[in-house]
Amino acid sequence: MGRGLTLLLLPLALLAAPAQAEGGTAAAEEEEVKIEVLHLPEVCSPKSKRGDLLNAHYDGFLASDGSKFYCSRTQNEGHPKWFVLGVGQVIKGLDVAMMNMCPGEKRKVIIPPSLAYGQQGYAQGKIPPNATLIFEIELYAVNKGPRSVEAFNKIDKDSDKKLSELEISQYLKEEFARDGKKRHPSVHDEILADIFKKNDHDGDGFISAKEYNVYQHDEL
Ligand SMILES: *[C@@H]1O[C@H](CO)[C@@H](O)[C@H](O)[C@H]1NC(C)=O
Repeated sequence: MGRGLTLLLLPLALLAAPAQAEGGTAAAEEEEVKIEVLHLPEVCSPKSKRGDLLNAHYDGFLASDGSKFYCSRTQNEGHPKWFVLGVGQVIKGLDVAMMNMCPGEKRKVIIPPSLAYGQQGYAQGKIPPNATLIFEIELYAVNKGPRSVEAFNKIDKDSDKKLSELEISQYLKEEFARDGKKRHPSVHDEILADIFKKNDHDGDGFISAKEYNVYQHDEL
């Protein structure tokens, strides 16, 4: 329940980095996510894809000693987590591990540190440096994700088809107020900086519609 681990799923306000050249930067073998299917329902549809809104429970373990560091069942009164797949709302390894997965399917996945918390680790050593993580995932629902056009327009208050720092800052404040969780004020600034780092590719201080276009099929 520590504040640290809630960041595992902290929604990056629908503004995660667009996927870069998928499959282009072929990872070394140790950088791959290993997926074991524990249960496959007879009817396996729809399969999850980037931009879908997923509902899942999962437990996280350290590969080194098998200790459990995260359990969605003990959070949020046991409600499964909702998140958008493939856009950075969860660690990269989970974004990869939950692709092409159907409702009712269970997977055990092994995620290398490079696709998890890397050399820094996380949450005051709760996830140590260079930790390989294991997750057991049960997927409940695969829904259509939020429409990025609508989300974009909602943030773009002055309708100039680009998002300023002020607009995104305002949006974050609203989102934070809505979920009512206690957060250190620095979290706002960190997320804001992170959003610009990941999305403002030309560094002009705005996130354009093109830079924002997280979901491939949406057009502005
Ligand atoms: C983590 O791995 C990197 C690269 O292999 C290494 O340089 C670093 O010393 C490791 N850190 C720790 C704390 O083991």
